[in-house]
Amino acid sequence: MNRQSSNLPPAVQIIDVGPRDGFQMETTFIPTELKIEIINRLAAAGLREIEATSFVHPELIPQMRDASQVMAGIERRPGVQYLALVPNLKGTERALAAGVDGLRFVICVTETYNQRNLRLSVEQSVDIFGQVVRLAEGAGVHVSAILAASFGCPFEGAVAEETVLALSRRLVDLGSQQIGFGDSAGVAHPLQVRSLLQRAGAQDPGVPLWIHLHDTRGLGLANAYAALDAGIVRFDTSLGGLGGCPVIRGATGNIATEDFTYLCREMGLATGIDLAVLRSASHLLQDFLGRPLASRLLAAGTKEELVETHRPDCLL
Ligand code: COA
Ligand code: ZN
Repeated sequence: MNRQSSNLPPAVQIIDVGPRDGFQMETTFIPTELKIEIINRLAAAGLREIEATSFVHPELIPQMRDASQVMAGIERRPGVQYLALVPNLKGTERALAAGVDGLRFVICVTETYNQRNLRLSVEQSVDIFGQVVRLAEGAGVHVSAILAASFGCPFEGAVAEETVLALSRRLVDLGSQQIGFGDSAGVAHPLQVRSLLQRAGAQDPGVPLWIHLHDTRGLGLANAYAALDAGIVRFDTSLGGLGGCPVIRGATGNIATEDFTYLCREMGLATGIDLAVLRSASHLLQDFLGRPLASRLLAAGTKEELVETHRPDCLL
């Protein structure tokens, strides 16, 4: 039984957001050199797009205060896009000065979340986005918008698909090259994911879409499968499943890069990722944090490795 008998795509693009979404919540400052080493290993593992950092208020998100140093220190591997999240023009100016390959502009679909997270109204963010696009285009850098809380707001509750689709349309019209749909609070379920993404794909057929899933209530991989079923081929994941949001109580990490890569491998979808090299980055991070990462694949190993442990000559 394999992919051919399903309508799943032959390949997916995974964007590891661990160095940003994953690290941003860590209270212990992750040394710049370690951030750089992990980003370099992600690239060596086959990631072709890495959200390397964010250019936000250094006092509000201290973990990201070394954003420029990270960008200056990483090995710029040919064929790899090093992206950064920005909330406004100041962040964009910093990111462009740091030489990012692409910008991801974050805007929350509800007023309350945008105010709490970015201290801006949605309208202000939309207006700033237009300026960011012009600034970035002038520098030859692509810009995409990620719509946080697309599947439900931690403050306002349910979010109508129409609200998300209307905002997506406006940002495409303003020049967003791709659109990301974020389940920032981890409240989505698979039928909701498939419905919104099918409608978004029909609304703007020529615009690549991506999904950014958090696994807060354990539905992350189920939601990822629903997105695959809806034709999505671009997925944000984070090393070890680390991450969360500073203004959402109890928010936990993105779906783990290791787990989603393994899911795709098992179903015959190409990812270009070498799980062994990837897990060398996971172990580096896990050793520094001194606690087990959330990735189940990291803890359990692959099914082939399981069989290995039962070989008579296995020393386990
Ligand atoms: N990077 C660094 N400094 C920034 C900045 C940025 N992106 N945006 C604003 N600032 C600075 C300004 O230069 C100003 O500095 P000054 O006091 O020395 O003049 C100060 O912050 C206040 O500027 P203002 O535009 O009023 O920003 P703010 O205080 O309203 O903060 C954000 C707005 C977006 C910068 C802030 O809310 C933020 O960084 N939030 C974190 C968002 C986040 O990372 N969420 C998780 C991922 S979605
Ligand atoms: Zn996130």
